[in-house]
Amino acid sequence: MKNLVLLGPPGAGKGTIAKRLAAEHGYLHLSTGDILRDEVTRGTELGRKAKAYMDAGELVPDELILAMVKEHVAGKDGILFDGFPRTLAQARGLEEIAPIQLVLFLELDRDTVVRRLSGRRVCPQCGALYNLVTQPPKEDERCDHCGAGLIQRDDDRPEVIARRFEVYMKDSAPLVDYYQGKGILVRLDAARPPEEVYAAALRAIRDDRP
Ligand code: AP5
Repeated sequence: MKNLVLLGPPGAGKGTIAKRLAAEHGYLHLSTGDILRDEVTRGTELGRKAKAYMDAGELVPDELILAMVKEHVAGKDGILFDGFPRTLAQARGLEEIAPIQLVLFLELDRDTVVRRLSGRRVCPQCGALYNLVTQPPKEDERCDHCGAGLIQRDDDRPEVIARRFEVYMKDSAPLVDYYQGKGILVRLDAARPPEEVYAAALRAIRDDRP
């Protein structure tokens, strides 16, 4: 199975697509954000180092991220990288870890990012994603799957969202040209409804052509 990267600003819908591709097509979903949040919750050394960066909307240092990814992908394929790589140094480091056949770039403007992230809610128990506006739970702020009370991520506060977007523009947006230059980037309009973005992602994977 091929290895894919999901690239795009915070809130573009990377996690939403990745969870579905993993459930329906057997990809191994590797979200560096999810792994880091789990490390923070468990109070590990990595989690303690990462927390301050995450709360401030800054990137966790490349060497910590690369070591963490290496450990999670050893000997596997069919990996869907979500939120990684995020810097050119991470992209170059990834080349030594796993070959990438396709990069799906989810394009979304800043105003929509802010709106989406302000309405995002997550299930702390099973990880399901919701949006109070676009994908609301059936029952008020409770998970449809496991019934747990939904929470808002610490970094979904307005001032942190603004900083995350700035960091994305400075450090991660250059990856678009980088992967375009390699001929493996496909652009998707992430402002479309979730079903349409997912269908476009599947078409790109099946065609496997930029
Ligand atoms: P991370 O968890 O990776 O956050 P992110 O990249 O900012 O992305 P998000 O999870 O916020 O958004 P998403 O694109 O997955 O959107 P989602 O599907 O949830 O990283 C968090 C932090 O960890 C970073 O700031 C950094 O500190 C650190 N970190 C992580 N990786 C790192 C790395 N590689 N290097 C260094 N540091 C790293 O959707 C968002 C909302 O919109 C949801 O409510 C959803 O329901 C809704 N939605 C989704 N799609 C649609 C649609 N098409 N239409 C309408 N609503 C939609």
